[in-house]
Amino acid sequence: MTLELPTGSIHLWLAFPDEINDEALLSSYGRLLNEEEKKRWQRFHFARHRHQYLVTRALIRSTLSRYVDIDPADWRFSFNNHGKPEILSALADKPIRFNLSHTNGLVMCAIVLENDIGVDIEDMQRKPATLDIAGHFFSRQEAEDLHNLPESGQSRRFFEYWTLKEAYIKARGMGLALPLKQFGFMISENQPVQISFDPRMEDNPAHWQFWQLWPSENHIAAIAVKSETNMKFQLLMNKVIPLQ
Ligand SMILES: CC(C)(COP(=O)(O)OP(=O)(O)OC[C@H]1O[C@@H](n2cnc3c(N)ncnc32)[C@H](O)[C@@H]1OP(=O)(O)O)[C@@H](O)C(=O)NCCC(=O)NCCS
Repeated sequence: MTLELPTGSIHLWLAFPDEINDEALLSSYGRLLNEEEKKRWQRFHFARHRHQYLVTRALIRSTLSRYVDIDPADWRFSFNNHGKPEILSALADKPIRFNLSHTNGLVMCAIVLENDIGVDIEDMQRKPATLDIAGHFFSRQEAEDLHNLPESGQSRRFFEYWTLKEAYIKARGMGLALPLKQFGFMISENQPVQISFDPRMEDNPAHWQFWQLWPSENHIAAIAVKSETNMKFQLLMNKVIPLQ
């Protein structure tokens, strides 16, 4: 039985790699990888990163197989010029799109029908040089907002902007080819997150919806989805151990 994915639904699937240590299960993850993925897996220097990579592959492959009757090992992907992966369309009977993000201690993928989607998660324990980075990568308004906050609130707001900006560029699929200073977010309590664009971006705020989540004490997530028809999306979040 495959899972239904209604139009207008975004399904989020989260796995916490530190909770996954059963050797038999990890061996079954290894058997899902294609040759390219195996090579990449072997190249990681640190065991922690190798483990995170393996869990990521298992999460995306097993999650896609919840929706389409295909063995997790049989999924194949194509990549755009900036590295954004999509499933090879011939494989699925529905237009499934996905995006994934991984950070220290958490892997997340989002599944949707048709629409451009981007997700980003970050480990907020990572201590960045907040204001310095904001000056380089954030819009003027974002950097000013951060600057005006008391120091105790700056780190959290920094990660809010960071994840939202990443989710947007990942939904566009263009990575850092997009000028990060030419779009900015407005975050206010109890209001949906809003985006604004410099005219040079030639994008329309009305086409975008964003969500923020805090999946654990240390993690923050942002999701961006594009709809030119103003479809209102609903999020459904699941925590899993892949293949269990
Ligand atoms: C590559 C990039 C798309 C995301 O990188 P990241 O935040 O380090 O990594 P994440 O874990 O969130 O996402 C990586 C996954 O996104 C997917 N991905 C790769 N290229 C992508 C692209 N162009 N668009 C969307 N998704 C992409 C892949 O599935 C990748 O995982 P995989 O390689 O294990 O399959 C890109 O945005 C980048 O290089 N960012 C650098 C960080 C930065 O300077 N951000 C500034 C924010 S203010």
